[in-house]
Amino acid sequence: MGSNFIKYILARHADWEVVNLDKLTYAGNLENLREIENSPNYSFVKGDIASAQDVEKALGNGVDKIINYAAETHVDRSILAPDAFIKTDVFGTYTLLEAARQHNVAQYIQISTDEVFGSIKTGAFDEQSPFEPNSPYAASKAGADHLCRAYFKTYNLPVIVSHSCNFFGPNQYLEKLIPLFITNLLENKKVPVYGAGDQRREWIFTEDHCKAVETIMEKGEAGEVYNIGTGFEKTNLEITRFILQELGFGEDRIEYVKDRPGHDWRYAVNAEKLRGLGWQPGIGWEEGLRRTIKWYQENESWWKKIKSGEYLEYYKQQYGK
Ligand code: DAU
Repeated sequence: MGSNFIKYILARHADWEVVNLDKLTYAGNLENLREIENSPNYSFVKGDIASAQDVEKALGNGVDKIINYAAETHVDRSILAPDAFIKTDVFGTYTLLEAARQHNVAQYIQISTDEVFGSIKTGAFDEQSPFEPNSPYAASKAGADHLCRAYFKTYNLPVIVSHSCNFFGPNQYLEKLIPLFITNLLENKKVPVYGAGDQRREWIFTEDHCKAVETIMEKGEAGEVYNIGTGFEKTNLEITRFILQELGFGEDRIEYVKDRPGHDWRYAVNAEKLRGLGWQPGIGWEEGLRRTIKWYQENESWWKKIKSGEYLEYYKQQYGK
């Protein structure tokens, strides 16, 4: 998501400068930024948000705004090994906030998740809903969001938190539902649906998410929280069937596997507050999914490299084969 946002912002704001601080963990990939890497208003710093020294390297020449896209993001990985989530998501956010305070930045935006609210049977979470995180990932993000609030209240740091629904689109690492299922099918493999596949998620195409964050940068108020949601709510089976159909496969490609422990059944957020700033989603879930499928079809070398490397080890651990 971070790389999509950088490309989006540089294409629309020729006079902005972007410094990209990235640890390049398993999910980071500089290939995603190849087309802008030589741009005069882009620079890259390899480093960890949990290291004050690395953060200082990135902020050294002064920055106006910090947008924190950096995180360990995958729920299943957090169940297998929570450690990195606490370090990056909680301590990393603290380190960034502290640096933002020292450098008097004009705006700090925390990219967070609807998962901090937990699961909801009907209706939608609003910005005041209490946090009830259910996975180590969600708990780490919730901890980070509380720190953001505290830095606004205690130090008056101009912090804004956004809680987004599930995003999808080009360049997404293959562990997530949509890219995993597309690439499995492109390799003629089965797709592992957890439990009965009746869990519900709300989906946003990456470009609409970039626009939402841009709107928050331009019109959001310090100390405020904004939900980012589209209303495009689908069960996992609906998403799976759409991908199967687009790629010309039948239901026999579905393999129902063991459910995720503590699996949240449904997420949904009310994004009226953000819509009030003039944002609205422009790309429907079907169009977004078609574009995403096309991107993976046309960029086989990008994902083949990932599937043959470190990812395989994780996949074996996760699915036992
Ligand atoms: O809601 C926002 C969150 O969306 C982000 O904060 C997280 O970083 C992001 O990973 C995502 O979390 P989810 O757990 O919803 O995404 P994931 O793609 O892992 O799974 C989506 C749904 O599909 C979920 O109900 C689990 C299910 N699933 C997932 C995988 C990877 C399967 O049935 N089979 C699978 O192989």
